[in-house]
Parts: sequence; structure tokens; C-alpha cells
Amino acid sequence: MRRRLGTWSLVLGLSACGPGSDEPASVAPPPEGAGRSGAPPGTPGTPPGMPGTPGTPPGTPGTPGTPGSPGTPGTPPGTPGTPGTPGTPGSPGTPGDDAPAEPSGSAPGFVPGPDDVPPTHFEGREIASTMSHLGASWLVRSNRDAEEDTTLLHRTLALKPGQTACDVGAGNGYHTVRMARAVGPTGRVLAVDVQPRMLELLRERVQAAGLDNVETIEGRPGDPRLPAGACDLILLVDVYHELAWPEPMLAAFRRALAPHGRLALVEFRARDPSVPIKPLHTMTKAQVERELRPRGFVRVEAFDGLPWQHLLFYGRDDGRDDGHDDAPGPTPPAPPSRDRAP
Ligand SMILES: C[S@@+](CC[C@H](N)C(=O)[O-])C[C@H]1O[C@@H](n2cnc3c(N)ncnc32)[C@H](O)[C@@H]1O
Repeated sequence: MRRRLGTWSLVLGLSACGPGSDEPASVAPPPEGAGRSGAPPGTPGTPPGMPGTPGTPPGTPGTPGTPGSPGTPGTPPGTPGTPGTPGTPGSPGTPGDDAPAEPSGSAPGFVPGPDDVPPTHFEGREIASTMSHLGASWLVRSNRDAEEDTTLLHRTLALKPGQTACDVGAGNGYHTVRMARAVGPTGRVLAVDVQPRMLELLRERVQAAGLDNVETIEGRPGDPRLPAGACDLILLVDVYHELAWPEPMLAAFRRALAPHGRLALVEFRARDPSVPIKPLHTMTKAQVERELRPRGFVRVEAFDGLPWQHLLFYGRDDGRDDGHDDAPGPTPPAPPSRDRAP
């Protein structure tokens, strides 16, 4: 199974430096081949030998699991299991599943392996390709704060000293550094990414900032490998829409949340002409709701104050009636299935 790394053309216009930004200047959009919309592996700029699917490590077992069956059904005999993936019966995150967090961090139930072909669509939405580390400089461009008001974003996250915060799809650590400062020396940040190179860049960044409360985790496309019940906040900035396996990832987030923990999704607003992002990389609130609500999450807050993005907070569903005024309509018919692999 391979995912494409493709041409980036998300941003049409970039301007002034962001106030308070501590990032090096780099205003150009990522180079050809550094983005995520359609070019096959081996696109110019992609290093030789770089897997088309970042973070899909060889040796991870698992053919798509039958719900309710052990974690690695159909796996050839002798193939080792994903470390710490016990294959507990049951399909986590399915509607109505509110089982308590598992004692260990890895996902019970279905964890996709390298030979599993990821879905192309989820709840009627086309899944975007993963952004390559070759575009990492764009994530730390000097005017990012000015464009996205990341200062306001982090104020709204309201992290507190001593908390455990998880930055999933952390990239090269733009948000990780701010989160680490917010939780302070008594707290910690778990920074997850599927691309080892992103994590290398992140560690350099964290070290340069003089922080020692960040732990990096090389996640799998369908398993963030977070410890169970540990996270006061799980943050995904511009990541959720490109998760190759949203369903097992949501189940894993649910298990990883502390009892009153929050999952925060930051996604570029769809259907907003002022947002200079390709539709494939945007989401509506209703679409997010359509995907999360049946999987054991309830929205606890929606912050509409960011220039381009939704900031949506979800908690584990404990049966509350959240009374949304923009509840999703029926799921649109699924488009014909296709395999993104070349
Ligand atoms: C657009 S970048 C955003 C990086 C960072 N959140 C930021 O805003 O600066 C998306 C990142 O998500 C990572 N990613 C994609 N799928 C992932 C997964 N299943 N688990 C962890 N990281 C993932 C990619 O490798 C990439 O670094």
C-alpha cells in the first residue's frame, strides 16, 4: 500500500511576518513534489527510496480486520503483531461504543497494516494525500501567525501547566513548541507523526527552543500509538482531513483521551471564498460532525474566531445531548471506490 505525495498548491497568496513568530522566514509555498495532491511517489523532489506512504513502516502486520475479531485476522501465520496491539475483540469507536479506555496505548481491534489499502473516501468525503516533509518549511513560514492567527489559536486551546498535550500530525513542530511552553516543565507534549523526517526536524526545533518536555512518537497511518487515557488535549492542525485511516485513528484518539480530555480539530473552512485553500484540504463543520459523532465523540465547543480555520473541540461521548444547530444531514452517496495507489 502506498499513498501519493503530490503537488502542493494550497496557498495562493502569502504576506507579512506574523507578530510574535519565532519561525525562520520562508514564505514560498512548498516545492513541486512536496505537497499532497495527486502526483505519484517519485515525483521530482521526492528523495529516492522514500516510501510513497510516509510512515507506513514495513513489517506492520494486519489485513483489514473483521469487526469483532482479533486484531490481526487474515495475517499470515508467523507475521508478528504490531507491538502492543493486542487485538482485543470488538471494533472500537463504532456507534454506541463507550467502553472504558484500554490499559495500554495501542489500538485494540483493527489496526491497518502495510498491505492494507486505505479507503479513498470516508463518510462521503475524499481523503486527501499526506503532506510530505519536503514542504516542511511552509509550516514554519514567518507569516503563519499573521495568516492563521496561531497566537489566538493557542490562547483558545487554554492548555495549563502540568497537562499532557498530544500534537498528532505534528510535522516539524510549529505547534508542538507552543504547546510545550504552555504545559511547562511539569507537563509534557507527545508529538506524533508518521514521517520520521518530520520528527527529526521537530526534535531539532524543540532542542533549539530549549525544551525538554516533548516526547516524539512515530505513529502508524492507522495508529497514533498514544498511551491510553493520558491526553488532556489531542490537537490536530490541518491533519484530520489527510488521515489515511480516519476510523481506527478516531478510535485510538478516543482511547487516548483522559476522562475530561478534549480532541481539537483545526481544519480550513470549506466553501468560504476567503480561504485560499483547495477544497480537498478543507472541511465543513457538518462533515466533521458526520464523521465524529457516530464514533463516540460529542462536540463541546466550536470557536469561530480564526481567520481561515474551524477550531472544533470534541470530548468522549458520555450520553450528553449537545443540541447542535448544524447537525449533519444524511450521508451523501459514496462515490465509486478507487485505489489511490499508482
Ligand atoms: C499539513 S501537515 C501539518 C503539520 C502541523 N500540524 C502543523 O500545522 O504545522 C500534516 C502532518 O500530518 C502528518 N500525518 C498524516 N497522517 C498522519 C497520521 N495518520 N498520523 C500521524 N501524523 C500524520 C503528516 O506526516 C504531516 O506531517
